[in-house]
Order: sequence, then structure tokens, then C-alpha cells
Amino acid sequence: MKVLEADGIVQVFEGREVLSGLDLTMGQGEVLGLLGVNGAGKSTLLKILTGMQRPVGGRVRFLGKPLSEGYPGILARMGVSINVPVFYESLNARENLEIDLAYLALADGGRRVAEITGISQLLEKVGLTADSATPVGRYSTGMRQRLALARCMGHHPDLYLLDEPLNGLDPVAIGQLRDSLRSLAAQGSAVLFSSHILSEVLRTADRVMVVADGRVSLRASVPELLSKGQETAERTLIKAMEG
Ligand SMILES: Nc1ncnc2c1ncn2[C@@H]1O[C@H](COP(=O)(O)OP(=O)(O)O)[C@@H](O)[C@H]1O
Ligand SMILES: [Mg+2]
Repeated sequence: MKVLEADGIVQVFEGREVLSGLDLTMGQGEVLGLLGVNGAGKSTLLKILTGMQRPVGGRVRFLGKPLSEGYPGILARMGVSINVPVFYESLNARENLEIDLAYLALADGGRRVAEITGISQLLEKVGLTADSATPVGRYSTGMRQRLALARCMGHHPDLYLLDEPLNGLDPVAIGQLRDSLRSLAAQGSAVLFSSHILSEVLRTADRVMVVADGRVSLRASVPELLSKGQETAERTLIKAMEG
């Protein structure tokens, strides 16, 4: 079964078509990199895939069912981080995660839908153990990104939708995030992430999808792109982003 299937997604803002009939499928264990210049519609697409935003046209199926069926309980099977992550600034990472996981349990009428990973383990996975007692208001951008990822992981979702998760990360943290995403995929989850860091997308993703002028301007497997070398691969991506 496909984890995610989107067909003919159209979105219009203030009379302007931002997405003009976009298709996308994702299977288990797959990492898909989403590319596009600023304003191309990446965040809009991700919001539509979560069901948070309704498109004017097209359909989304998640785990074989229309997204609208089973909403919002279905959110408990997704790990979502879109736009700048928002936290309780005066609370620490541990307290923030406690609240998030409690909400996730509530999303399905109070019934726990999945085994919930312990908070200590989550903090360890994203490298925040040493800072777990610090109020999140004092965190750097990179630390906030890592906490956002921890928030997505606790309930073992089938699908991760991550909007620019590399933003603000230092090179060490970028490497750790790459390992985390690959290991989530190895455990069977599907991972969709957007990024502007081409080299990193090519190192992390199995496939890439470029959005330009509201349409998919390129779909390619990463090994195929890299078969002509790193530089050619990056040039191909940039050309596709230009539309
Ligand atoms: N809620 C909204 N109302 C009006 N315009 C929007 C809204 N959300 C996004 N847009 C516009 O849609 C386009 C795509 O935005 P976005 O999906 O955020 O792009 P990206 O994430 O690729 O940078 C931009 O021109 C943006 O200004
Ligand atoms: Mg965006």
C-alpha cells in the first residue's frame, strides 16, 4: 500500500494559482526531497498533505484512505513540522514534549494509537539531553529544529512531513539529521522534506521532486541524478527550479 497519494492538487490564493495540478506518491521506507525556489509552493503543498489546508482541487489519500476520512485522528500517524516551529518558550524541552505527546494521544479520542517513545530517549536521539532543562526560549535555531524533530518522532508515525528541517543547523547537526531521517526510513516510515541545500538533499533523499510555476518540473531518482557527477546533478536541480 502507498503511504501517500496526491492527485491533481490545485491551490489558489487571491486569484493566483500557486499549485496547478500536482501529483505525488510515496511508499514505505522512502525519503523524498522537495525542492523549489522561495514561493514555489512547498509549504503550501506540505500543509495540504497534512489536511491542515484544503486545496481547491485534487485529492490526497493517506494509508489508502481519503485524508478527510478519519481526520483529525489520522494526524497521530503523521509527524509534521511546517514553517517555524512554535513552542512554550518558558518551558523546557522535556515539558514541551510532554504536552505534545499528551495532545497526540488526545487526537484519537484519548486512545493511544501507537507506542510512545520515552521522552529521555527522544531527547537523546536529537542530541538535546544536556539542554533538556533549559527553557526553550533560550534555544538557538538549530536546537529548536532538533526539538521540532523530536516532537514528530515520539509516536512512530508512518509519514514525516518536514518543511526545511535543515534550517539553522550546523554541519554536525546536519549530519545527525541525515542519519536520523535515513534511520526512520529504514524502519519503514516515509519521509518528505524540503530544503534549499542541494548537496544535502542529494545525500539524504532517494528521490527528488522539484516544483516550479505550480507544477512538478522534475522527478528523479538520486542515484540517476548523481550518475553524471555531483556538479551536473546540482545544475540539473537548479535548472528545474528555474522552471
Ligand atoms: N495563506 C496564504 N494566503 C495568500 N497567499 C499565500 C498563502 N500561503 C502562501 N501564499 C503564497 O503562495 C506562494 C507559495 O508559498 P509557500 O507555499 O509558502 O512557498 P515556499 O514554501 O515554496 O516558499 C507564495 O507566493 C505565498 O506568498
Ligand atoms: Mg516554505
